[in-house]
Amino acid sequence: MKGLILSGGKGTRLYPLTYTRAKQLIPVANKPVLIRVIEAIREAGVNEIGIVVGQTAAEIREALGDGDAWGVKLQYIMQDSPDGLAHAVKISRDFLAGAPFVMFLGDNVIEGGISSLISDFADNHWNCQIVLKRVDNPSAYGVAELRPDGSIEQLIEKPTVPPSDLALVGIYMFDHHIFEAVSEIQPSARGEYEITDAIQWLIDQGHTVFPHIHEGWWIDTGKPTDLLEANSHVLEEICPTIAASAEIDSDSSIDSRVTVQDGARIVNSIVRGPTILGKDTVIENSFIGPFTSIYHHCEIRNCQIERSIILENSRVIDIDQTLRDSLIGRNATVKRSDGKPSGIKMNLGDHGNLWV
Ligand code: DAU
Repeated sequence: MKGLILSGGKGTRLYPLTYTRAKQLIPVANKPVLIRVIEAIREAGVNEIGIVVGQTAAEIREALGDGDAWGVKLQYIMQDSPDGLAHAVKISRDFLAGAPFVMFLGDNVIEGGISSLISDFADNHWNCQIVLKRVDNPSAYGVAELRPDGSIEQLIEKPTVPPSDLALVGIYMFDHHIFEAVSEIQPSARGEYEITDAIQWLIDQGHTVFPHIHEGWWIDTGKPTDLLEANSHVLEEICPTIAASAEIDSDSSIDSRVTVQDGARIVNSIVRGPTILGKDTVIENSFIGPFTSIYHHCEIRNCQIERSIILENSRVIDIDQTLRDSLIGRNATVKRSDGKPSGIKMNLGDHGNLWV
């Protein structure tokens, strides 16, 4: 079995964070989503992984290298333009060389890993296995309609009127029949070769496509609100640790669900978990509430922050109101200004949002 991770595409819905960074490299609980995907595949016993990359290839290569750091062997597959998930499969044919494979979208985070899915696929003679999840907004995804016996009637990509609430999760298992399917289909109305159409082709040709309904949480980290939600779920799952090199002074109190990474310093502050404070980050005279991830080399002074993600090298200083449900990018500063005339001052990136 091999692995195929899709990490091309543009990430426009996560602007401005993804102007300068691949969306799959944005961290959730201080670890990039793409690394979480690699770990999930490795934990299922699959070590040979192809990564489809597009315009952010250089950045992804720099972050992941040859995969040695995660105990896997990575091969990069260049997709010149984001022509769809089925197109990504098509260009990966040489790498996959006829082996069955698990395809994982590089921006998906799922509870409980994929080991049982992979062993089900290996033990049965299905040509394809898909994962479905009941959601409130099926129109945002590929949607499956099942027959009364649980088999798949049809799959439709982002339908305006969804036939069910069963969304396609971004994890698929295929055997070599998928290569015939991806060469038979035509581009969709949005101009992409859809994997949904390729799987429908397998069904129409009488191949076995088994649907597994996932009961745990699953997030496609496409939008800022999704990232905050994924962050909350993952923080609840991680086993909290305090690094030996972290410093917490006697005027601070942190509860048992807080992870403090190497060299972080907490001074006269209260931290309530689940929360993670990154390497060499300083928290001073502040309150950090649940579901917050502060990445490395940040500086937080005289603030209250709850349910937020703050990326590396950023500073939040002297803010009176609680900062909550916020996503702050890299090297950003949020700071009170006492200068006159008073008022709000900002350098806000393209597509940024500020709620006051
Ligand atoms: O997340 C689940 C959904 O993923 C499914 O329900 C849909 O059926 C499926 O089409 C897909 O929809 P999205 O619109 O969310 O796909 P997105 O364009 O965000 O791409 C998913 C990942 O694949 C992302 O990491 C970028 C990568 N990608 C995307 C395209 C279009 C590629 O590597 N190459 C591509 O050509």
